[in-house]
Amino acid sequence: MAILKIARMGHPILARRAEEIVDPTAPEIARLAEDMIETMLDAPGVGLAAPQVHAGSRLIVFQVPEGRAGDGKDDGAVPLTLLINPAIEFLSDDMALGWEGCLSIPEMMGEVPRVMRIGYSGLDLAGRRVEREATGFHARVVQHEYDHLDGILYPMRMADLSRFGFTAELRKMVSEEDGERDEEEPD
Ligand code: NI
Repeated sequence: MAILKIARMGHPILARRAEEIVDPTAPEIARLAEDMIETMLDAPGVGLAAPQVHAGSRLIVFQVPEGRAGDGKDDGAVPLTLLINPAIEFLSDDMALGWEGCLSIPEMMGEVPRVMRIGYSGLDLAGRRVEREATGFHARVVQHEYDHLDGILYPMRMADLSRFGFTAELRKMVSEEDGERDEEEPD
């Protein structure tokens, strides 16, 4: 296992579409997945996509810790999950704003609109299909990580760039707001 170097915004690997993984059971995919998990936990972050560690493969890892979980059926805590060649289906027209950060855009955060309810699927390291529905923070994390595979970083999803800036500066403003929205930082 190894902690990998994280690519930062501006590196071309983050702007490219990542390639489908042909054999999910290949040893090099298991190795990449292990290193990504170690890198994510070390950062620490709640999600990481392969392009963020300079690997152009369609692989994401994420989790929803208890502290970030909601009360809904598909919004609870989610154990560490790995998805190969993930797919997302939007199950709602409703969008919600939430704060996000990204290990590739250190020390910054922004308020990003995301679809509130999704279905997602993908393969695990044994090639078995994983299929879930997600709402709330869970849905947000998956959309954020999935976007990395298509070369999309969260500021590209923002409608109001006045809500993008350094975390240390924004925290004060956010805490002064009504507090009904949770601060959310997928990775
Ligand atoms: Ni990110």
